[in-house]
This record gives sequence, C-alpha cells and structure tokens, in this order.
Amino acid sequence: MTITANERLGLNPTDPRPAEETRPLVDRTQTNPLFGDQKMKLGLFGTNCSYGLIMSHAPSTYEITWAHTKEIAQRADQLGFDVLVPVARWKGFGGSTNFNGNCFETYAWAAGLAEATERIAIGATSHLPTVHPIVAAKAATTIDHISGGRFALNLVMGWVPPEMEMFGREQREHDARYDFGQEWLDFATRLWTEEGSFSIDSEFFTGDLLEAYPKPHQAPRPALLNAGNSPRGIEFSARNVDINFASLDTLDNIKSYTDALRAKAREEYQREIKAMTYGLVVCRDTEDEAKRAFRQVVDEGDWGAAGNVIKIAGSGESQSFDHAVREMQERFIAGWGGYPIVGTPEQVAEELGRLNEAGMEGMIFGLIDYNEELKYFGERVIPLLKEAGLRH
Ligand SMILES: Cc1cc2nc3c(=O)[nH]c(=O)nc-3n(C[C@H](O)[C@H](O)[C@H](O)COP(=O)(O)O)c2cc1C
Repeated sequence: MTITANERLGLNPTDPRPAEETRPLVDRTQTNPLFGDQKMKLGLFGTNCSYGLIMSHAPSTYEITWAHTKEIAQRADQLGFDVLVPVARWKGFGGSTNFNGNCFETYAWAAGLAEATERIAIGATSHLPTVHPIVAAKAATTIDHISGGRFALNLVMGWVPPEMEMFGREQREHDARYDFGQEWLDFATRLWTEEGSFSIDSEFFTGDLLEAYPKPHQAPRPALLNAGNSPRGIEFSARNVDINFASLDTLDNIKSYTDALRAKAREEYQREIKAMTYGLVVCRDTEDEAKRAFRQVVDEGDWGAAGNVIKIAGSGESQSFDHAVREMQERFIAGWGGYPIVGTPEQVAEELGRLNEAGMEGMIFGLIDYNEELKYFGERVIPLLKEAGLRH
C-alpha cells in the first residue's frame, strides 16, 4: 500500500495521492543526447571557468561573463553538440592567471543554460562532500525539468584540499571519498526514484520521512558522469554511472582501459557504461599553423599554476624543470592533462575516429578561443565527421 503525503508528515492518512506523484516519466533516450545514437559524441568542457582548459596567456576572446558562456552554449547547441560539462571549482590554482579562479557555480549555470538551449545535454559538476544529497537531488531534478530531460550530473569526490578546507572539511583519504560518494549517490537515487518516504541511517547520513517530488523528467534518473581513473574510481563508475571520463595518453592504453571498464560493468554489475575522454583541440588550416598555436599556449603558459595543479594532484613532487615534469606540465598547460588533438580539420576528424575505434564514444574538449573556434569546427570538422560516419 502506498502511503499518502499526510502520512509522511505524520498526519492523518485521509488525502489521496496527489496526481503529480504518479506522472509517467520520460524515456531519457528520447530527450538526452548522451543516450542518443551519434557514434562519436561531442561536448565542450570547462566553459564556465576562466581560461577553460588552458593555463596560458595565449590570446583569446574567452571570458567569464554570462553573455559569453551562453553564446558558446547556444552555438554548440546549434552545431548539434551533445553535451556541455562544466568544471566545479571554488578557488583558482594561483600562478599568473589564477587558473580557473573565476568560475560560475555549476548547478546555477546549468539551470540558466538549460533554459537558453534546446537540444544539447547540460551538465553540472558536483563535489559530493560540499552539498547534501537532498539539496543536490532537488536541484538536479529542477534542472532536468527546465531542460526537458537533458540534464547530466558529473559526480566528483573533491581532490583539492584547499577547496575542501573552505568548507571546513578535512580531505578524506582517497578511497574513503568514494565510500562517502557511494552513500551520497544511493541517497540521491532513492530520492529520484522512490515513491512515498523512507528513512536513512548509514555511516554518513541519517534522516527520517525522506521524500522528494517531483521526480526527474528523465527516467529513471538524470544521466550520471564520473571521471575516476584510479581502481576505486573505476569501480565507482562501473557500478553507478552512465559515462566514465578517462585521462589517457596513448591509443593502446585507451583501448585496454575502455575494454576493462566495460567488462567490469557488465560482469560485476550487469550494466552498460560508456567511455569518453577529454582534451584540448587545436584545429587550423595547416598542420604548421595548428602546431604553432598549440606551441604558443605552451610558450605563454602559466607554469606556476600548472606546477600547483601537479603538486596538488600529487604526481610531481619535483619543482625542477626536468624533462618529465616539463612534459607533464605542458599537457596540463594545454588541456588540463587531457588528450591533445592538434592539426588540420582532416587530421582532427581522423584522430577523433581513432579515439572512437579505441572505444571512446565521445570527447569533451576545450578550445583556445571557444566561441570563435567553434564556428570553424562546425564548418570544417563536423562535415568530415559526418562523411566518416561518426556523426549524422
Ligand atoms: C572530464 C573530467 C572532469 C572533471 N571535473 C572536475 C571538476 O569539475 N572538479 C574537480 O574537482 N575535479 C574534476 N575532475 C577531476 C576528477 O574528479 C579527478 O580526476 C578524480 O577525482 C580522480 O579520481 P581518481 O583518483 O579516482 O582517478 C575532472 C576530471 C575529468 C577527467
């Protein structure tokens, strides 16, 4: 027997169930391009944060204003891009740019863009320890309704201690962050999917007579994303999310990663998962021009910010500019450590094809000048992707 709203308040169970509680939910394959049939999905990454994916003073018209971020989103929407994934950032990484320091909060950003766009999936990126699942689940549901079922939630555990300290939180040990994340997500999922009310008494959360209405527009819940690449992170992704974002260097590594990720989800959790990657795309008429533009990003790079990122990520203890550290910093300076694609429209389309063959079902990327370069990408690269059968 379903209990009524009155019962859930501890009052008399006389009222019938409100009609909205039984509203049929929408099949998300019909509303969310992340579940659509484009073979190689395209997204933009980091268009809510200063400098986007480049820690560099290389010239760009890119700026963090609402008008500009909206224009980029609308252009991507018109070009048929599949998703926008923002970066959740509470303070910058210092250096001469204070990289990413100027940053729109992502649930609010997503809500605004959901209203301003028509087809593209809109993501919010959420540090799970910074927001209670009741608030986050409700915000996600609200954006899902605004967008008509196009919302995606990127679940991040919080890896930058100075940010977590802003919330008066101590950084949990690496794997314990995912234990917390699992409880957080289980809580939010119950709010998205369960009728009536329930109670929770777990390690990290307690609550009685919990409920959330309306339910999300997409059934059974909004799209979920995660970028865990560690064994525990991959476990979390395989168990829970629709898309994992991988940070990888070679096509061989990508193939073995995507195969293992899918096998894990299928064999251990009886579910399907997609893999996508990210990086900087620099596309110009000639290879030489593209390489020069990429080189300029590195030459005018903010080595201070890149060094801070690498230091915090724990992967580069040395401040000396030996070859390995310099190369790693170059990858961070030009694309946040992602997979760089630099070349002519033909070369960019071919590389996206190779990534797809290696098991990547999409790429979210940054551009040195998002808005300006998007026009070029739309005119020169998308037709080639269509010819190659990667897009329609
Ligand atoms: C596509 C992508 C988006 C990410 N977005 C954020 C973000 O917005 N905020 C953040 O703090 N970390 C972000 N990260 C960092 C991931 O959260 C980080 O790589 C992850 O915590 C590493 O997990 P692991 O140690 O399990 O591999 C992102 C990573 C990727 C690849």
